[in-house]
Amino acid sequence: MPYICPICRHPLQQHLPSKGYYCTNKHHFDLAKEGYLNLLPAQHKKSKEPGDSRAMMRARRNFLEAGFYQSMAEALVKIIDSHKPPSLPMHILDVGCGEGYYCRQLEALSNHPEDLDLHGIDIAKNAIFAAAKKQLNARFIVASTKSMPYADHYFDLLLRIYAPANDQEIIRLLKPDGLLLVVTPGPRHLWQLKEFIYHDVKEHPADVALPEGFTQIDSQRVSYKIRPDQNQRMALLQMTPFAWRANAAIQNKIQRANDLQIEADFILTLAKQL
Ligand SMILES: C[S@@+](CC[C@H](N)C(=O)[O-])C[C@H]1O[C@@H](n2cnc3c(N)ncnc32)[C@H](O)[C@@H]1O
Ligand SMILES: [Zn+2]
Repeated sequence: MPYICPICRHPLQQHLPSKGYYCTNKHHFDLAKEGYLNLLPAQHKKSKEPGDSRAMMRARRNFLEAGFYQSMAEALVKIIDSHKPPSLPMHILDVGCGEGYYCRQLEALSNHPEDLDLHGIDIAKNAIFAAAKKQLNARFIVASTKSMPYADHYFDLLLRIYAPANDQEIIRLLKPDGLLLVVTPGPRHLWQLKEFIYHDVKEHPADVALPEGFTQIDSQRVSYKIRPDQNQRMALLQMTPFAWRANAAIQNKIQRANDLQIEADFILTLAKQL
């Protein structure tokens, strides 16, 4: 069983008639109709709706589903397909998976999706609800990446795409020879969008912070140009951490710009423990 109880940390067992999960201390977690588990106890919540808002989630989904980051997803799948462990399935966790776009892409683009056991975790319930509804072949939970209710050393690979994570938890969840695949913005990511916002645009630092004891075994830069339409530019802006700097006048300029081409630039880093 992949899950542990978020309250007492004993293993969770599924009770088949109800499909709910129980630990030996009788803590109980229902499986939602959409197939996800909420393993974030109310006492661990710092706000009523933690994580990204529904509006941010929708903006991200609309933008991603338009395929602008698919080339990056293809590169991810190639790396994963070429690092399968000897014993299958390969247990994969998307940490801070949002509304599950990359989990869906892993299933859609892999040469052997049946080899993959896909999991996603996010603190935003609205995002997990959407992810579970769209992908029946993956298992999603609502929980914080600070304390991930999975059994020790369950996963062969953890995927971290623009999401917060806790190094100790990454080490605990990964098998000793497990892999960490991190996606970070490349130096020129969204350069033309930033030019509207900053006077002096700076390249994003290319170095990636890995958990202590991890070493890089592969790194790829994926860069290309995208041409989002006016609405898609607004969705993209909502996905970026610098959106709050763009006032209404700047947003208007971005929306109305003629034939705007924007650089997408990603660094994919594959690492393992020494
Ligand atoms: C920038 S989004 C990236 C989502 C997805 N990986 C993608 O690239 O489309 C960051 C995600 O991390 C989630 N998040 C933020 N803090 C979190 C936490 N402590 N635990 C789990 N997820 C968290 C947010 O809800 C959001 O879905
Ligand atoms: Zn328990």
